[in-house]
Amino acid sequence: MKSGLDDVIAAETQLSDVDGLAGRLIIRGVSLDDLVAKSRYEDVAALLLSGMFDEEIDAGRLISLIGDARLSLFDHVAQIDPALLALPPVEAMRALLARLPDGTDFATAVRLMAAPAVFLPAVLRLRAGEPAIRPDPRLSQAKDILRMTNGILPTAEQAAGLDAYLVTIADHGLNASTFTARVIASTHAGLTSSVLGALGALMGPLHGGAPGPVLDMLDAVGTPENARGWLKEELDRGERLMGFGHRIYRVRDPRADALKAALRPIVAAGQVDGQRMALAEAVEQAAVTLLRERKPDRPLETNVEFYTAMLLDSLGFPREAFTGVFAIGRTVGWIAHAREQVLNGRLIRPQSRYIGLVPKAA
Ligand code: ACO
Repeated sequence: MKSGLDDVIAAETQLSDVDGLAGRLIIRGVSLDDLVAKSRYEDVAALLLSGMFDEEIDAGRLISLIGDARLSLFDHVAQIDPALLALPPVEAMRALLARLPDGTDFATAVRLMAAPAVFLPAVLRLRAGEPAIRPDPRLSQAKDILRMTNGILPTAEQAAGLDAYLVTIADHGLNASTFTARVIASTHAGLTSSVLGALGALMGPLHGGAPGPVLDMLDAVGTPENARGWLKEELDRGERLMGFGHRIYRVRDPRADALKAALRPIVAAGQVDGQRMALAEAVEQAAVTLLRERKPDRPLETNVEFYTAMLLDSLGFPREAFTGVFAIGRTVGWIAHAREQVLNGRLIRPQSRYIGLVPKAA
């Protein structure tokens, strides 16, 4: 029995490949670097969903279909009540998603890609005492999310930054949430059920819940000079450093570089405090050095969540919303895997080994 199922192959997929030794991510034959350089969210969505439904799917059509779906989902925002707003934003978003009908068709997939992009900004605005902003179906997903969150059209650098983020995190092999989506789909449940289950798996700090705590860590460290001492104390207390380590990568997560690169134009445009960036780099350097000293046999390098925190913070998202933004981007990956599982797979039903008590023989 392999606790954690390390190295167990549980699916064959054409969607993405994570090469943990080379530090390389491929999405449907395209390397992450190429994808981020050339694609918007809708391009990678079309790439992932192509062949998964009967419809012809291209990015231009997806922009308008997802835009129309965002607009029609805005009716749900009127039903947001104080009890929902008392929840953390990602839990409120999850509750709103749970109200959507289930289904296995392309229309359900489009609705699921649009829904979190409407619900999360609306919840954030309403929690801040501001009115929710109606979606603009003519805009790309990234631009409209930023407009609905911050109340103004984003700058070109900000829109490109969120697009780069959504592309970077769209799919990533058989991670915990994607596996969850596939298990649910393997029972022939609908896509809404798969996405909701996957969102539940994403929320833990060992998976998609890490970037908020990364920002807490930067705040607690405060200055670059404090980095080593603060991190050392955390490790001495047996704490894990958020934003470091990965089950598959034995080298730096390539998504960390993609997101750091996406931050550069935003920093250059003066939309991020340069000192904050210097602090992040100092904390990263100190953490990697300390983890190498402590665990020479277990490479623990920077993962995607470290610069996610910096990027999403610079785009105006509050830290308690970071996991929700992750879910907006990853939903298309969950849907693609759920469809692939139904088209090519079987019911997933592993065995457990019983180690409990047995009845005494009569
Ligand atoms: N800080 C300190 N020590 C760590 C860290 C870390 N970030 N990550 C792993 N370790 C240590 C563990 O304590 C363990 O030590 P031990 O052998 O003395 O018990 C050893 O390294 C191996 O750790 P595992 O738990 O076996 O590693 P696993 O592959 O299960 O965990 C994980 C991967 C969950 C990402 C882990 O590195 C971690 O908890 N990181 C911090 C949280 C984080 O950044 N999560 C986001 C991951 S990216 C994503 O999912 C989108």
